[in-house]
Order: sequence, then structure tokens, then C-alpha cells
Amino acid sequence: MMKIFDLFAGIGGFRLASEKIFDKQKVKNETVGWSEIDKYCQKSYSANFNVKNNFFVDDIKKITAGDKIFCNSSNYNSKKKSSLIKNKLPYFDLLYAGFPCQSFSSMGKQKGLEDERGALFFDIAAILHSIKPKYFILENVKRLLTIDNKKTFRIIISILQNENYDVSWWLLDSKDYGVPQTRRRIFIYGSLKKNKNNFPIDPPKISKKITTTKSVLEKNVDSKYILSKKILKTILKDGSGGYYSKSEIDLEIARPLTRTMVKMHRAHQDNYYSNKFINNEKKLKWIRRLTPLEALRLQGFPDKFYKIAKKNNVSDTQLYMQAGNSVTVNVVEAILNHLINHGWFR
Ligand SMILES: C[S@@+](CC[C@H](N)C(=O)[O-])C[C@H]1O[C@@H](n2cnc3c(N)ncnc32)[C@H](O)[C@@H]1O
Repeated sequence: MMKIFDLFAGIGGFRLASEKIFDKQKVKNETVGWSEIDKYCQKSYSANFNVKNNFFVDDIKKITAGDKIFCNSSNYNSKKKSSLIKNKLPYFDLLYAGFPCQSFSSMGKQKGLEDERGALFFDIAAILHSIKPKYFILENVKRLLTIDNKKTFRIIISILQNENYDVSWWLLDSKDYGVPQTRRRIFIYGSLKKNKNNFPIDPPKISKKITTTKSVLEKNVDSKYILSKKILKTILKDGSGGYYSKSEIDLEIARPLTRTMVKMHRAHQDNYYSNKFINNEKKLKWIRRLTPLEALRLQGFPDKFYKIAKKNNVSDTQLYMQAGNSVTVNVVEAILNHLINHGWFR
């Protein structure tokens, strides 16, 4: 039985892919616990997954800093932390964690609460050190590779290796795995050295299925999604006085969704679609933003997920943020299939 812990769970992009692929590939699996600090994410997550018998903690630091000392580079592997974590967390074989991107060196220079709380990577390191799951998959933004002149990334990899894992990473783009969204993320994956796994270096095969945003856009939506004249002006300007054609609305492959797409309207950064594109009409009548359902579709979530979240009173605003924050389900599916085909998790 593959026991799984979903850390920094968000709305469960990892879990959704995991339950589907492991079941399909006939790998017995059970998510034994999850942690997510945001109460609205918790709402979407617990409405969509069977969390009844799951271990849950909102802030993971309640576990990793139960001794009132936050995890850092010098204490994450201490005996004290290790026994603290072992006493509180259930055992699991596989850890998922999409963690916030933090630079270690600039953190040291800032004083204040954030700094005291430390980088969340050290909480992951402390958990790996004490629980020693057989496998992990971590996700982060592409920038993690280069911040601090690559020093942060080097430290992360060497800590994971020192914990006795074979470790590697892929930089994957969601658009290559069946969703029409450009989204480059790094996935760091590891397996305990003693597992002696066939360790795949090549990335998961790119999907042959070509999809465009036409497949996710709704035909009929509420008029509240249509942009006002005032906002249109900002969106359509391309900086050189040109309009529409250069402003790159109606993209077949959407730009990366962001947490902030709900609050801001930014030409060249967010996604907008016109009646010309959606309804194949000749004359421009309106331009609209994405709906929350479309945002979730662009991250590989099924419509059922949206309906259940709405039924549980998760607001549109929260759903936009959650979609912008989540991992693309299809990419995790491709990773899991790839690793299973290399003999992992058996
Ligand atoms: C990059 S997102 C991961 C999203 C997730 N993979 C998904 O599919 O939705 C990171 C998540 O970590 C959560 N988080 C941040 N600090 C946390 C903490 N101390 N304990 C637990 N969760 C935390 C955030 O609220 C956020 O949802």
C-alpha cells in the first residue's frame, strides 16, 4: 500500500492526479494526511476529497516547530526535531509538496517575522529526515533554478542527496501535457538510495494530443465577465499605441495563470478572449476575462471539481486564486505514469 502525504496541498492538484493514476495502474494507494494553511483552499479540498480518516494540520510549522524553534539549515536534521515529527505525523511512503519559492540568502538579510519562520524548504527537509518516505515529488517555479546565482537550488539538491536520496529534476511546461497553458515548473523527484530504483532521467513523454483554449472556453457566460470600456483601454494598449492585433488577446495557448489574475487587469500578462475567437464571428463585439471554471480547466481540473467547490460556497475570487496557485493535474499524471513505468511505487 502506497501511503501518501499531501503537504502544501492547495486544492489537491497532486492528490487528484495521484488517485486517478495509481488506481488506473493498479497501485494500491491511500492519502494518509495533508496540510494546508489557507482556509478557502481547505474548503475546496475537503469538499472534493474523502478526508474523513486523514491526518490534517493547517500550518505545518505546528508540527515542525512544535519545539518553538523554526526549521533552518542547521537544525532541520536534529534529533529533537526528528523525534518531534515522528511522534506527530503518520508514516507515509510518498511525499508531495509544491512549496513557495524562497531565496535562502536574501532571507538571511531580512529581519522580521517572515525571516524567523524560515524557508518552508527546511520543513520539507526536516520531514524527509524524520519520516524517511521512499519517494518524494516537489514542485516549484522555474525561478528557483536561478535565484542567488543558483546557490539556493544547489543547497536544496545537496540537502536532499545528503538525506540519502537519488535526486533529479525536470523543467516541464503544462502545454506539453494536454492543457493549453504555458506554465513552466520544476519538479524535483527523489527515491531513497536503498530502493535501487530504475532512476529515470528523461522527462515524461510529451503528449501527442494538441489542445487549444477553444476546448476550454465556455460559449455562454454571465455578462459580468465581459470587460468594461475603461478596462478594455488598458488591456488593448500595446504600449506603442497599437490596438487589438498586437495586444495578444485570443491566445490559443493561454499565458500562465497567476494568483492575482482576479484582482488585476494586465495587458500581455493575463488571458482575455473575444467573441471573434470564441464564436468565430467577424466583428469584434466584446472581450472577456476567463471564468473560474475555465481557469480550473486550464489546470486540468474536471468540471465536477468546480461544481462541488461552488456548492460548498467557495467564491469566484477564491477559485481564481486557487487555480492560479495549483499544480497542473495533467503534468503530475504524466510524471506518475512515467515513474510507475520505470518500476517506481510497486
Ligand atoms: C504553491 S501552492 C501548492 C498548491 C498545490 N500543489 C495545489 O495543487 O493546489 C503552496 C500552498 O502552500 C500553502 N502553505 C503556505 N504556507 C504553509 C504552511 N506553513 N503550512 C501549510 N500550508 C502552507 C499555501 O496556502 C499554498 O496553498
